[in-house]
Amino acid sequence: MSGPVMNNINNVVKMILATGLLTLLAACNPASDGGAPAGAEPPLAGAKIGGSFTLTNQDGGKTSDTDFKGQYRIIYFGYSYCPDVCPVDLANIMLGLKQVEKDDPALARKIQPIFISVDPGRDTPDVLKQYVSAFHPRLIGLTGSAEEIAAVAKKYLILYDIRNDEGSSEYLVDHSRQAYLFGPEGEPLALLPFDGTPQQVADEIIRWAR
Ligand code: NI
Repeated sequence: MSGPVMNNINNVVKMILATGLLTLLAACNPASDGGAPAGAEPPLAGAKIGGSFTLTNQDGGKTSDTDFKGQYRIIYFGYSYCPDVCPVDLANIMLGLKQVEKDDPALARKIQPIFISVDPGRDTPDVLKQYVSAFHPRLIGLTGSAEEIAAVAKKYLILYDIRNDEGSSEYLVDHSRQAYLFGPEGEPLALLPFDGTPQQVADEIIRWAR
């Protein structure tokens, strides 16, 4: 990894420490009884993550956070040209949501999955439309201007760095890897185990979306 990226990662760690998240991360491990103790706080309860946005969806229209009032939201930041990490994570998370659809269909209907691009230069609505449909029929893809994406990424504690290779249309985007579960008012609840099994993802969703 390059120097600037490591600096970015250090900054994320500092932000996490500043918000007191680190002490709560252990709670992300699935409980052995498969359920949270009664009255247990979601791991990200009270964390300053998230907030309002208005971006462009895969159909070219505008989508705002307020459109999802009353719904749980799974939010993952990435980019469609990502060669390996993003597609694997998205596939796992969406398989987890499909497992929720089997385990608790009523709950699943109240969950909106959202993919936000950190590569607005290439992720046009048309590109996103094709991309998101490969993972889940209800997955929404959002893009915007460089400024809009920078603003939303900051609110959601996502760092990204577009590697500029002069004269080439091929480039990679280093970015934070995070799968958030937010509540019906847009409040952060938990991080989903994107590298776990679909059942583990589903269990974590069901544990905190209640
Ligand atoms: Ni990626």
